[in-house]
Amino acid sequence: MRALYLSHPGKRADELAFLAQAQVDLDPDRLLIFAQSGGTGGWPISTDQVGNAYCPLPPDAFTEIIVGSSVRLFASPWSKAFLRHLYKAVVPGGTLAVSFVSDAEAARKGYWSLAGLRALFGQDGECSRNGQLVIITREGKLPKVDSVLDWNLRNHGILLTTAVDLLANRSTIDEELVRDICRPMALREHRLTIEPIMLQDLPQQSQLGELLDREAYFNGGVGYKSALLRHIAKRYFEADQPLRVIDHGGGSGFTAVEMLLQRDLQVTKAVCCDVSLLLAMVTSKMFADMRECLADRFFFELTPIQDFDYDEDYDLISFLGSLLYVPREDTEQTLGRAWDSLRPGGVLVIHENIKSRSYTRDYDLMFTVEELEGFLRPLAHIDYYLSTATIQITKEMSGTKSVFRVLQKAD
Ligand SMILES: C[S@@+](CC[C@H](N)C(=O)[O-])C[C@H]1O[C@@H](n2cnc3c(N)ncnc32)[C@H](O)[C@@H]1O
Repeated sequence: MRALYLSHPGKRADELAFLAQAQVDLDPDRLLIFAQSGGTGGWPISTDQVGNAYCPLPPDAFTEIIVGSSVRLFASPWSKAFLRHLYKAVVPGGTLAVSFVSDAEAARKGYWSLAGLRALFGQDGECSRNGQLVIITREGKLPKVDSVLDWNLRNHGILLTTAVDLLANRSTIDEELVRDICRPMALREHRLTIEPIMLQDLPQQSQLGELLDREAYFNGGVGYKSALLRHIAKRYFEADQPLRVIDHGGGSGFTAVEMLLQRDLQVTKAVCCDVSLLLAMVTSKMFADMRECLADRFFFELTPIQDFDYDEDYDLISFLGSLLYVPREDTEQTLGRAWDSLRPGGVLVIHENIKSRSYTRDYDLMFTVEELEGFLRPLAHIDYYLSTATIQITKEMSGTKSVFRVLQKAD
């Protein structure tokens, strides 16, 4: 069995052309295809389907797996966990081919270089004819990597099973149940109130099938969001500085936890604030499984961002695809309170998709650039970073792209 990983099903032809150039010998009709977005469902898949790139694979099952050139992986713990997973899925003696970029491009954009991949796999491998793929032979095991992706792969389908649990208990959802879910990871013991917005996210039976796609969105997003937050943290803080971070509207806390797990950052406390009871339940399962490393360091607040009660000053506060959900009449004070709770030198990070006709979902809630910056500009100067590479850009270059906007509070 052979598998090809690509960014999106639409990249299939480009990837096959790239592989032909690399003179990798393939029979396209017998390839199983997995995509980072736009793929559905998990293992097993057939040749007429496109599987999701983050579904677990059985160990020792493939003679060859190829990670194509459209799959841009930041050199981070998350992608180490991803590549380790693929390596484990290859039979001993089989091969894993991974594309890489030049040393200069790797340094500029944060992707894998040949040297980085060689160090990761502990072998030189063989380079393809076009010099853009390294072919690694499966020999033994790779060390475990601390990453949320590892937990996710072991708990594939967690959103679906958690939703089914919640639906089964729907008649008994009360404050006591919610408190029991949240207590172990609460920032402080407090009385929780179930607000309608917390229940809004409970799916109906008919929507359950969509949950795997949503899980894939969360899983895939952690890969680039945690890598770019790490890059931003390294830009604005000293290497040994202990950091307290909050991720507002952070879903199940995957990005916040991934920040905690990054060994080259000193994140001492990471908080996720989200309003979804379903996601809080997923978080509580992750928290229970990873308790040893998360206890007293990771906290989840089931509360609307606009009501978040800051317990102390923080170094980095992020809103990733979440500020748009704060009611507009509360946006200014929500940002103002976050800003006030940053310590001097701390940073506010905002990542929003900008309103465009190409988005059907949440179109009415999305910000235009002018509107978003109207809220941010009074706070401080805005720096811009791409969300596809570790590169700072100018405001003009950012246009209507989904970029990271970073504002630093004066020392
Ligand atoms: C589009 S998702 C983004 C999740 C995550 N930040 C990411 O980038 O993958 C938006 C998240 O915001 C949460 N959310 C929506 N309204 C909220 C509010 N008023 N307060 C807190 N969280 C909210 C949702 O439950 C959801 O998890």
